Amino acid sequence: MTKETLTITDNRTGQTYEVPVAHDTINAMDLRQIKVNEGDFGMMSYDPGFKNTASTKSTITFIDGGKGILRYRGYPIEQLAEKSNFIETAYLTMFGELPTQAQYDEWEHDIRHHTFVHENIKQLMEAFRYDAHPMSMFISTVAALSTYYPEARNIDDPQARMKQVIRLIGKVPTIAAFSYRHTRGLPYVYPNNDLGYTENFLYMLDKMGQTDYEVNAVLARALDVLFMLHIDHEQNCGTATMRVIGSSHSDPYSSMAGAAAALFGPLHGGANEAVLRMLTEIGDVKNVPEFMEGVKNRERLLMGFGHRVYKNFDPRAKIIKNIADEVFEVTGRNPLLDIALELERIALEDDFFVQRNLYPNVDFYSGIIYQAMGFPVAMFPVLFAIPRTVGWLAQWQELLADKTQKIARPRQIFLGEDTRDFVAMADR
Ligand code: CMC
Repeated sequence: MTKETLTITDNRTGQTYEVPVAHDTINAMDLRQIKVNEGDFGMMSYDPGFKNTASTKSTITFIDGGKGILRYRGYPIEQLAEKSNFIETAYLTMFGELPTQAQYDEWEHDIRHHTFVHENIKQLMEAFRYDAHPMSMFISTVAALSTYYPEARNIDDPQARMKQVIRLIGKVPTIAAFSYRHTRGLPYVYPNNDLGYTENFLYMLDKMGQTDYEVNAVLARALDVLFMLHIDHEQNCGTATMRVIGSSHSDPYSSMAGAAAALFGPLHGGANEAVLRMLTEIGDVKNVPEFMEGVKNRERLLMGFGHRVYKNFDPRAKIIKNIADEVFEVTGRNPLLDIALELERIALEDDFFVQRNLYPNVDFYSGIIYQAMGFPVAMFPVLFAIPRTVGWLAQWQELLADKTQKIARPRQIFLGEDTRDFVAMADR
């Protein structure tokens, strides 16, 4: 009979240890008993970037990177992208089941009626420099929200928690739209609560003086699908940050500001911005081979390629490629698409990329779509942060409900100086 244990022999001492295995995982604390002598601290595992460390049990998102599978609460992303909408998928992500009609209506109504921000928040945003990066404005404003809702610190009260969840999901499109209008020097447009989530966002971005302004339905649906694809992606850098900050029992606004800050980096949510800059720099299909040589010589990265988890293909990239065609029918074809297609064609055939399992990720095409829709590149991480708000908050709720969780506090391998006596300035 097979045993659900792992036997470890320490060749330094000849001692053998048997540790339990559950879900193909050992508990890292079980390593601590492995010691050379009694005074020894005990064995740790070294894992920079947490490449092989599970920090939580979760029931939200499943990814099989080898097979290119992404599911929220068991539902394949392809089915959700085809049959659901952002608000419904947000409910699913948050609560674990698809909503009944009554649950959907209440959820949608609550979010729709929490879209306005305090006038002082608007003034706070107006105070940013004229050329402030919209993502920096977004991060700072989300943090500032905590000053308006001090009850948010009551993280042990499920009702108070849900109130902040609704507020954050409702308000992030407004903050995002205000940050966009700010960079354009345009007056902020208040939410229109007659409109659905994504329509309202497009309305706040685009509306000028027209009295008969109508949101383009194809673009609204395309953005809604893009939002669905970005809701959650299990323990990525931003989500892990949400959990790390949340583990100290910070309020959700402060935790989410940290998560959004993590998302801002070019190796994470800033990647589609980096893709667009890369494509613009390449400038022409004829320059692609030379650029690829530079990548292979390790002078630079091919942005929008590679993923920590997906080592086959990113299922979100496939869906996005189809959306691109629908969007380009409305907006006209983005000329950068040809450069992207050529980069993809070469990369998928080239040994350097094949051997390293490097495939287009979600960011490779999303930027091209966003640009065709008229978004400046600086808005791309903000467009990622709006839907990811749902994932962050679902993960935060899960964290707080999990009584086995502790404040995040990694260990280190100390390789610095041993103790030494202070040397006076004159003697150095
Ligand atoms: N271009 C060229 N080489 C690459 C790339 C790339 N985009 N990505 C990875 N490699 C190489 C890397 O140099 C390494 O080669 P070697 O083994 O010879 O040293 C090998 O492939 C493995 O890469 P890694 O850096 O160990 O992989 P990782 O899991 O640590 O990094 C990644 C994942 C996404 C940070 C990385 O692929 C990358 O920097 N990609 C470009 C940025 C990007 O598109 N990021 C968006 C990620 S998807 C959105 C999100 O979820 O946030």
